Amino acid sequence: MVNWNLRFSGDDYFYGEEPNRFLEDQRHRLHAGMSALVPADGEGRNGVWLATLGLDVHTVDNAESGIAKARRLAEQEGVELNAEQADLFSWQWPEQAYDVIASIFFHIPSAMRPAIHQKMLRALKPGGLLILEAFHQDQLRFRSGGPKDADLLYTEALLQADFADATIEHLKKCQIDLDESEAHRGPAMVIRLLATRPG
Ligand SMILES: C[S@@+](CC[C@H](N)C(=O)[O-])C[C@H]1O[C@@H](n2cnc3c(N)ncnc32)[C@H](O)[C@@H]1O
Repeated sequence: MVNWNLRFSGDDYFYGEEPNRFLEDQRHRLHAGMSALVPADGEGRNGVWLATLGLDVHTVDNAESGIAKARRLAEQEGVELNAEQADLFSWQWPEQAYDVIASIFFHIPSAMRPAIHQKMLRALKPGGLLILEAFHQDQLRFRSGGPKDADLLYTEALLQADFADATIEHLKKCQIDLDESEAHRGPAMVIRLLATRPG
């Protein structure tokens, strides 16, 4: 089990300061004034990037050092970020609160994953957009990062079932060249999802 608080305790940003590529690719759908939740935002690279676009961002992560660095990154970029330290497995997920949720490399144990994904979907406003990228179970064959436990990795079938109530626009396993700091570098097998909450 990774100690994220320890992992983020250095001065450097473990996954860098740039946003995740798949999230960045959705830029045309992200507009100033939208509300966004970034669950498990780590050191804030994705939440801060959304805030630079003018979104009203709520970042939540369990790691105290990550949240402190997310606040520091927001200050450095001159943006507002509502950064909260909390355990998302016991968090009071709000309902119909956000236009966008960006879940990036948030690997949830299978015993909890469907319930947390349900809460994620319900936290979206009707018509709201979920952007999710995570490592696929086939990532176990690669050395470019991610959990080494299949129970924490995803497949298309698992996400299809978790988000059966959503309108799935895109759900695809793909091999990419990951280049997000030393911790995420090289050929990788990820799964990418775009889904909206039906209106
Ligand atoms: C692989 S890191 C990804 C960080 C960030 N999303 C990124 O892409 O840079 C996984 C993150 O999940 C967070 N996390 C794991 N379990 C959590 C939980 N139960 N509640 C809140 N955060 C959690 C960790 O603290 C860590 O920041």
